[in-house]
Amino acid sequence: MNSRPAIVHDQSLRALNTFGIEAKAAAYLRVATVDDLRAVRAAPELMALRRLVLGGGSNLLLTRDFDGLVLHMANLGVAVTGEDEDHLLVTAQAGENWHRFVQWTLDHGLPGLENLSLIPGSVGASPIQNIGAYGSEMADCFHSLRAFDMETGEMRLLARQDCTFGYRDSVFKHALRERAVIVDVTFALPKRWRPNLRYAELAAEIATRGIAMPSAKDISDAVIAIRTRKLPDPAKIGNAGSFFKNPVVSAAQRDALLAQHPALVSYLQAGGSYKLAAGWLIDQRGWRGRSIGAAGVHEKQALVLVNRGGASGGDVLELARQITDDVQRGFGVVLEPEPVVL
Ligand code: EPU
Repeated sequence: MNSRPAIVHDQSLRALNTFGIEAKAAAYLRVATVDDLRAVRAAPELMALRRLVLGGGSNLLLTRDFDGLVLHMANLGVAVTGEDEDHLLVTAQAGENWHRFVQWTLDHGLPGLENLSLIPGSVGASPIQNIGAYGSEMADCFHSLRAFDMETGEMRLLARQDCTFGYRDSVFKHALRERAVIVDVTFALPKRWRPNLRYAELAAEIATRGIAMPSAKDISDAVIAIRTRKLPDPAKIGNAGSFFKNPVVSAAQRDALLAQHPALVSYLQAGGSYKLAAGWLIDQRGWRGRSIGAAGVHEKQALVLVNRGGASGGDVLELARQITDDVQRGFGVVLEPEPVVL
């Protein structure tokens, strides 16, 4: 028999989203073990509710109270769980903080995730949008994950090919949304590691530090320094990292834009399309540092929207709408939000 889950009603989510926006959840459960999820399944009145699985709340914009059930993942633990000829396997529970997990791997002499240092959020959320930064993405080191299927009550093991990872995208944003609750994630970390300095700004930071043969820890330190310079600390000013995805356009559209705007920042993608730097587009339209009420555009990185204090989700969304319209007018490119908007 499952015990009754310890549901909290009308729980404030303010401290649980990095935008720091006030909204209430009709029902809230702190999930410490898979048994808590089994208990939810056994309660028809809870299964009738919409669900939101919450990790670090760092990729979420709340625009209203949530009338469903928030499952707040709080299961903890990290361990080396296996190896093959080329990799060590490390498994982290979903509720672990991502950055602390990355630091744990580095402290244990396990390189591979250093380029993803200081990304806010939890381990369990990392596959959902396939977090990425500084020339690397989570999928590069992903091995498998275990998820609890809220429909069948089974634990499912998903390998890389089951997750359809894309740019800030995966099956967990689509077919398995609200259905699969990620319980733990296993990473395959290389035994023969080589530094990844593909991202020019990172290579420049390492060069500035006079490091010829960087260790994984050197790279982590450099990434932390860059991020700290450019991105606002959610503990000090509410934000959800990049608010927009970098739009992908055809080579023809990129060439036409480049002819009109020679300084356009674009990156060639596999398959011949181009990713445009949305931050550059927004910046060119004069939005960097601007505000509408308490919702603003970060001074040092136009891709990041911030809560300057007391903004509602609607305020942030209105700012995002105006930016989207303006960038479309100026460049004919449609920006899409990166966070989940509720
Ligand atoms: N740029 C501007 N003005 C701005 C912002 C950017 O001109 O206000 C230009 C920069 O000078 C640079 C280019 O745009 O030439 C790209 O900027 P940056 O290197 O800061 O990266 P990004 O494309 O803006 C992406 C990710 C970030 C990630 C960085 C580093 C997305 C949506 N964002 O930003 O991810 O940290 O690359 O890899 O892909 C996040 O997802 O929350 C996030 C912070």
